[in-house]
Amino acid sequence: MIRACTVDELPPGESVRLPGSPAIAVFHTEAGELYAIDDTCTHQDASLADGWLEGCFVECPLHAALFDLRTGVPSCLPAKDPVRTYPVVVDEGVIYVEGTAREDAA
Ligand code: FES
Repeated sequence: MIRACTVDELPPGESVRLPGSPAIAVFHTEAGELYAIDDTCTHQDASLADGWLEGCFVECPLHAALFDLRTGVPSCLPAKDPVRTYPVVVDEGVIYVEGTAREDAA
């Protein structure tokens, strides 16, 4: 498990980038849900943690592809390939991300 930050440090509407290989972006939606996906866009080299959160979607800051945080699947071009998603756990006010992506964990 990778420690991201405390819940207090990531208010709704915010995101945080966890450096590493791969880097992971963690999002706290306005609805209060937490999601983690690969930080690097599958189109080019952009950090999705720098993107714009819209409900359960993040818009890539470079060319505006929209990724569904629940599935990692892009809903519009220019990105075609999904990013991986990671389980998120909150324990005693601290946000943790599992280091193994969902598709890899199967
Ligand atoms: S780099 Fe993300 S859409 Fe182009």
